[in-house]
Amino acid sequence: MDVRTASREELLALKEELTARYEECCAKNLKLDMSRGKPGADQLNLSEGILTALSKNEDAIFEGTDLRNYGGLDGIPACKALFAEVLGLKPENILIGGNASLTMMYDNIMRLWVFGDCNGNTPWSKLDKVKFLCPVPGYDRHFAICQQLGIEMINIPMHDDGPDMDMIEKLVSEDASIKGIWCVPKYSNPTGAVYSDEVVRRFAALKPAAADFKIMWDNAYCVHHLTDDKIQIPNIFELAKEYGNEDMIFQFASTSKITYPGAGVACLSASVKNIAWVKNILKVQAIGPDKLNQARHVVFFKNAAGIAAHMEKHRAILAPKFQMVLDMLEKNLGGTGAGSWLSPKGGYFISFDSFPGCASRIYELCKNAGVVITDAGATYPYGKDPEDKNLRIAPSYPPVEELKAAMEVFCVCAHLAAVEKLLG
Ligand SMILES: Cc1ncc(COP(=O)(O)O)c(C=O)c1O
Repeated sequence: MDVRTASREELLALKEELTARYEECCAKNLKLDMSRGKPGADQLNLSEGILTALSKNEDAIFEGTDLRNYGGLDGIPACKALFAEVLGLKPENILIGGNASLTMMYDNIMRLWVFGDCNGNTPWSKLDKVKFLCPVPGYDRHFAICQQLGIEMINIPMHDDGPDMDMIEKLVSEDASIKGIWCVPKYSNPTGAVYSDEVVRRFAALKPAAADFKIMWDNAYCVHHLTDDKIQIPNIFELAKEYGNEDMIFQFASTSKITYPGAGVACLSASVKNIAWVKNILKVQAIGPDKLNQARHVVFFKNAAGIAAHMEKHRAILAPKFQMVLDMLEKNLGGTGAGSWLSPKGGYFISFDSFPGCASRIYELCKNAGVVITDAGATYPYGKDPEDKNLRIAPSYPPVEELKAAMEVFCVCAHLAAVEKLLG
């Protein structure tokens, strides 16, 4: 029965039935968590061998350099070459950091904030107003960086093929206080959307009013496929060359969801001019990153094909979990009008849109039944989802049986919340 066309009597009867089911869920005293987009222990175990990839003193002398010592600010050549191969760039466009790309993104915004960009534009902190475009729903930690600095965030609707480019082109061409945009171009967090070739080209060709407009191209899920359709997107730097826009783009990636989120390797990629700008500031902040971990990753993977083969093992664990969540949604909510969802071809999340105005209520119902999901509103700047409908489901962490139990609760809650809403 579709709740949107059901009669009041039908809704009242359905409410009674769903409430009984909800009470059964609560009585189970569950303690389940679907909030964290992190790999499960079985995925972490796939990287066994990386911890001992360097085991002796001699191993630390790598390609003629003693990795135990200071130095190597932009990363060891072999690790730069590895990321360059994965991202289709040259090593000169790569700077390797610590374990988190989020830290590199934060630092990059800070450099622009404190020092101004590579072309000597005014530091953003000295301007009256700085605005950023935020495709929504999106990644909460991007938004948190802007919020911490008082950067005003403007929501940009996401479509299946990327953010609304007409709106972006119009806004950036008219307002010089718009200084940047957050993008997750492939298997985006949370919708799984992949930017189309046309969208990538339109980004590369942007003509912003701000001379120091920056695209934060967070390619966090570049090799994280869930199906045989291993989507590739165009190399934005290649396209940007055609428009003289190379300095406008900073790309980020990491092995957080390839090896270990707590002990992987992250990288920033950019034009040679931007890499020089970053290094010039970074040389005061650091003497060198953890080069041993970089070498461990190189020894473990060898090349991009090694990473691709490893990602197949992740897929074997993750794909059935995603399928289970999608099957549960279809079985319990298909045709009910109580929500809609997307079936991603990669990445880490399933994005669920509830009946409008119900996301907070679903969150609360789930919580009271012992199931933690990501906060309602988290996928929007300032934690404010204007329609209170988007929820992010993270299937990776819980074991399959727990995920199934959690999804049973989630579906009852989503259904019940829609019925409650309609009944007023
Ligand atoms: C889009 C996106 N970017 C970045 C990160 C974090 O990356 P890292 O672990 O390299 O800091 C995440 C983690 O969920 C993410 O979803």
